[in-house]
Amino acid sequence: MNIIKDTDHILLMYDGKRKWLLKVRQGENFGTHKGIVYFDDIIGKQYGTCIFTKPQGFKMRVFKPLPSDFILKMGRTTQILYPEDCGLILMYTGIGPGSLVLEAGTGSGALTCILGNYVKPNGHVYSYDIREKSLKQARNNVQKAHLEDVVSIEYGDILIDVDHHELDAVVLDLATPWLAVKKVKSFLRLSGVLCSFSPTIEQVKKTVEALEGKEFYDINTFELIKRKIIVKENATRPTTRMVGHTGYLTFARRIQDIENPYQGKKPEKAEKVDLSDLSDLIKL
Ligand SMILES: C[S@@+](CC[C@H](N)C(=O)[O-])C[C@H]1O[C@@H](n2cnc3c(N)ncnc32)[C@H](O)[C@@H]1O
Repeated sequence: MNIIKDTDHILLMYDGKRKWLLKVRQGENFGTHKGIVYFDDIIGKQYGTCIFTKPQGFKMRVFKPLPSDFILKMGRTTQILYPEDCGLILMYTGIGPGSLVLEAGTGSGALTCILGNYVKPNGHVYSYDIREKSLKQARNNVQKAHLEDVVSIEYGDILIDVDHHELDAVVLDLATPWLAVKKVKSFLRLSGVLCSFSPTIEQVKKTVEALEGKEFYDINTFELIKRKIIVKENATRPTTRMVGHTGYLTFARRIQDIENPYQGKKPEKAEKVDLSDLSDLIKL
């Protein structure tokens, strides 16, 4: 499992900043400013090994790519979701092996690939977008990640064309999610989770207003702020530059609301208990 084979993906790292996501191919090579990396020197070795560029002999580390590496290095035509936001989506929707998930819009397919990885082997991600450019880029990324069996990417306007039933989760990342709420609520099974990602508070307010009512419960919005910590002798501190804002994530669970049969009814009068027999006992 840990041996690198022809056509496998690797993350090649020179240092924290210089890293490349590559597909190794027998007989081919990759040129860097530090020299040439020959894939034949990598194929057959274990992930986690080091190799040396030719002719300069600079050390490069070879890792098995993580989902976060795929996301940050994949081709994109739109803004994509950051790995930490994807992590929260997985935790708060409960998406896992076997889950049936709808996503709109697909964008560059960054979240699509993460979702695809987690619903494997018997779940499915149905992803829709209205931009041909996004669909093409996303299909390309899904193919590179070998997820075609568990992901379908199709043209579709979530507000008009799409229809599904009994889904475990619906994930929205589009400009007007509040317009989609009315449509997608019927796609979810009871207790299924709707998640919406939006970069602005105005979008969040409209989305939460659309969710409020009898069909959703446990509506929560979160923002994640990630700070990298630089560890140095006597100078350990957060980095001075950071991504200050990605977006807000709103979650809501689908419910079947049932009228309270006790509402409006007077409680029955409490039954009086005759304690006269106990009076002798009490005297004792
Ligand atoms: C920010 S991108 C999504 C990025 C994606 N989450 C990712 O990680 O790569 C938003 C996408 O929503 C699509 N979109 C907007 N309105 C839509 C609609 N009504 N139905 C389907 N897709 C829509 C846009 O075309 C765009 O590609």
